[in-house]
Amino acid sequence: MALQLGPIVGEVTHSSAKIWFRADAEGTHTCHVFTDSTSPTEVPGSPWQAVVSQPTGHTATVQVALPNADQLYYYDIRGPGGSTILPGGRLSFKNTPAPGTPTSLTFAFVSCHKPFAYDAAKRFLMWDQMEAVFKDKNIRFLLMIGDQIYGDDCFKKVSRGEQPAVEGYREVYQQYWGHASVMKILGRYPTYMIWDDHEIRDGWGSQGGDSEEHTIFKAARQVYHEFQHGHNPMNFGPEAQHYAFGFGQVGFLVLDLRGHRDMSRNMDERPLLGTKQWEDITDWLTNRAQNYRVLFIVCSVPIVHAPPGAADVSPLMDHWSYMKIRPEQEALVRLLFKVMNESDNLRQIVVLGGNVHEGTVAEIRSYLQEHNKRRRIYQFTSSPIANEPVGAYSFFITFGKTVRIDGNDEIIGKILEEFPERNFGLVHVNYDSGADSYRVVFELYREGKSPYTFST
Ligand SMILES: [Fe+2]
Repeated sequence: MALQLGPIVGEVTHSSAKIWFRADAEGTHTCHVFTDSTSPTEVPGSPWQAVVSQPTGHTATVQVALPNADQLYYYDIRGPGGSTILPGGRLSFKNTPAPGTPTSLTFAFVSCHKPFAYDAAKRFLMWDQMEAVFKDKNIRFLLMIGDQIYGDDCFKKVSRGEQPAVEGYREVYQQYWGHASVMKILGRYPTYMIWDDHEIRDGWGSQGGDSEEHTIFKAARQVYHEFQHGHNPMNFGPEAQHYAFGFGQVGFLVLDLRGHRDMSRNMDERPLLGTKQWEDITDWLTNRAQNYRVLFIVCSVPIVHAPPGAADVSPLMDHWSYMKIRPEQEALVRLLFKVMNESDNLRQIVVLGGNVHEGTVAEIRSYLQEHNKRRRIYQFTSSPIANEPVGAYSFFITFGKTVRIDGNDEIIGKILEEFPERNFGLVHVNYDSGADSYRVVFELYREGKSPYTFST
């Protein structure tokens, strides 16, 4: 019995953690949790059983209970024979403070992990840099916000009948994640994931015939659940890929931009997010978001990027400003401003994006009277962590960097900064206990350049 891939620490709360791994054979494994790196004493309830079986591709997620909030824990995974399957022995991770606790937080976010597109000597360079920065900056968790794999070749082979779909996608995950530079991070820092197009195929959901009924899509979704979503929060039900979570007084709402995307639906049927996701997030933003002081909206594709004139040209159908999706872009932005302006507690909303193969800082400003309390939403984008960066975007030269959100120029998005190097983003949410206030600071670590800093 050996470890095939992992482990990955997924969702953590003040009282629990999800731990994922892939073994090389079936059997009941156990996950042991400790508060010390060497002591044999386990936390109450430990060990927990994890059944590894063929129908889930030998992957398993085990949810463990943790006795204290905001503490460092150590864990071990043992095979059916009782010996450890972790080659380096116990790993550690930290869980969250209790809900509602005022505290500072630093987390990281990345997207577009395609190391094989890059110069062999530098494929994992940004991952290695992350490891050093993570130790130094007390990073509490990582968000991987799309294109954690590139399944395009698999999709093509399956379409041609050359490969079984489910097993094909599993092999892609094994290939893309099976590197020490990646697993050193994912085994030690809680990691939250959301897919984007390449977990299925480039531009998924924007072309004719792309629907939830597509056979290869169903296989890609099954494997997405096995490798990624199984260790995410699932607070909107086991079928939903969108989710929400919190860290003290800081909230996160993670949108699923691919699972329901279908351009054959009418605009009133929400071709981007689908009606069920819209109901869920409207309810959550209206009734739950005010429990947080700062809220991050995580979108694999940034809400503000390609200007509408550029997006209506077919290769940019993936963007929020594409004509068929624009009503959802405007509806979401209006909803975010409404929630932030009507709440006394929730002071700031920030959007996080990936996908576009460059780093950006953008802002969305509302000039509407009803938004006079809080008029600005910032957006930070980090992409790519390993894929080729894009260089300069010609559509910004042709169409400018202004993204009109509504028809009357009362809500306007603008790209403020662009960074064409590979990168990862850090977000510091700094709590000032004297003033009882939060300040959000964005740091973009770029390949071969010094970090860029933006204070909100
Ligand atoms: Fe990508």
